[in-house]
Amino acid sequence: MKFTVAIDGPAAAGKGTISKAVAAHFGFAHLDTGLLYRAVGAGMLAGGDPLFVARNLDSANLDGNALRTQAVAEAASLVAAMPDVRAALVKFQQDFARREGGAVLDGRDIGTVICPDAEAKLFVTASAERRAQRRHKELTQKGFSQTLDDVLAAVIARDRRDSERATAPMMTARDAVVIDTSDLTIEDAIAAAVAAITLKR
Ligand code: DC
Repeated sequence: MKFTVAIDGPAAAGKGTISKAVAAHFGFAHLDTGLLYRAVGAGMLAGGDPLFVARNLDSANLDGNALRTQAVAEAASLVAAMPDVRAALVKFQQDFARREGGAVLDGRDIGTVICPDAEAKLFVTASAERRAQRRHKELTQKGFSQTLDDVLAAVIARDRRDSERATAPMMTARDAVVIDTSDLTIEDAIAAAVAAITLKR
C-alpha cells in the first residue's frame, strides 16, 4: 500500500509534532524534510559547497539534535533558496513518499512541488506571534537568552525568505486542508490532522 501525507507550513506551527503523531497513528514512515536542508546548511557552515553536500547527503546520518541550532536554521533557509540544491534533494524525497506502507513528509513544498499527487495534504500554520512565543519558551528552557522580540523578528524574517524565494516557495496547496494551531491544544491539532487524513483513506 502506498499513501503519501504531505504536511507543509511555517516553522514552529506544530508541523513536526503533528507529523510524528500522524505517522505513529497510521503506522507510516516519517521524513522531516527540513533536516535535509539543515544538513546541507550545516555542511556549508563547515566550509563545504552546498551543492556538493546536497548531492552527497547521507540520509542515514541526519542527526536531528546537532542540526536544530539557530545558526543551522539560518544556513538551511539560505541553501533552501538555491534551485540546484533543491533539485538535488527531490528524488530522495519522492522515493521516500512512494515507499510501501505509507509515508508522511513535512516541509514547505511537499504538497505543491515534491508530491503534488499526495493522497492527503495539510497546511499547518499559526500566527507569527504565537509561533514566536512557542519558540521562545523552547529556547528559554534550553538555556538560551534571546528576547521574545528577537525571536519574533527571526520568525518573520525566515517566513519571508521561505515564502518569497523564486524556487518552490512555501505556499498552501490548493487542495490542502489548513489547520491553524494558534488556539488549539496539541491534542486537538493532532485530532484535526488525523480526521482530515482519515477522510482521504
Ligand atoms: O522546518 P525547518 O525549520 O527544519 O526547515 C529548515 C529550513 O529549510 C527552512 O528555512 C525552510 C527550508 N525547507 C524548505 O525550503 N523546504 C522543505 N521542504 C523543508 C524545509
